[in-house]
Amino acid sequence: MKNLAKRLLSRVQQSHLASVPNLDCDRFEINNWILSDFVAHRLVPLVGFHPYPLNEMMLMSGAVCRFKPSYVFEWGTNLGVSARIFHETASFFKIDTQIHSIDLPDDIDHAEHPKNLRGKFVKGKANVHLHLGDGLQTSLDIYKSIPEGETVLFFVDGDHSYESVKRELSEIVKNVKSPKILLHDTFYQTEKSKYNIGPHQAVNEVMDEVSKDLNLNLVSENIGLPGMTLIY
Ligand SMILES: C[S@@+](CC[C@H](N)C(=O)[O-])C[C@H]1O[C@@H](n2cnc3c(N)ncnc32)[C@H](O)[C@@H]1O
Repeated sequence: MKNLAKRLLSRVQQSHLASVPNLDCDRFEINNWILSDFVAHRLVPLVGFHPYPLNEMMLMSGAVCRFKPSYVFEWGTNLGVSARIFHETASFFKIDTQIHSIDLPDDIDHAEHPKNLRGKFVKGKANVHLHLGDGLQTSLDIYKSIPEGETVLFFVDGDHSYESVKRELSEIVKNVKSPKILLHDTFYQTEKSKYNIGPHQAVNEVMDEVSKDLNLNLVSENIGLPGMTLIY
């Protein structure tokens, strides 16, 4: 029995290392086949593929495997689908991660506010901590209280207006050392589509301002709605 447990653990550890090849190189890279297997067989049965399509779940779980963050800060919680994706990835690949997920207080009026369904996908998960407040402010308050040098991953999926994404991204890169940031709803299509391209525009502007000085790179899942961007 002990041997079987050992063999299973070593298989998981091997799959974690194999899931992120070329760790000594500077660019983001994941093993698409290992992550596809994980997304298709573990994540999809638990969370489906809405609001995060398969390619975006690959980027989310790939970022956890690649960066092994001690902390994930994410907003808004809503039903807790993204928090569950981070939880499942960390647990499957044996990565020690605390997930702080924030949504607006119940008395604030927001079209997407989940009310009493908040966090339904992460009920009882010990490493997922739910908070009420402004996502950025609450995250930065917690960030300032953790030991310096910890790897931190942000997941920005709150109010998808140009103004809020610009404010949130600008403050993260200003306050966090070597930030790793995923942003949702960043798909770009030309004007005729009438899509909200505010988040895409905010990402471009912040990258133009700081990417050289801070040596930041960008990976974009830009093949259709809703779209996701990784900055690292
Ligand atoms: C698209 S939903 C997020 C989906 C969620 N990540 C999930 O997996 O179920 C947007 C959520 O962001 C919340 N929100 C909007 N602005 C926010 C802010 N400034 N801080 C925290 N949450 C915010 C809304 O109340 C809403 O629940």
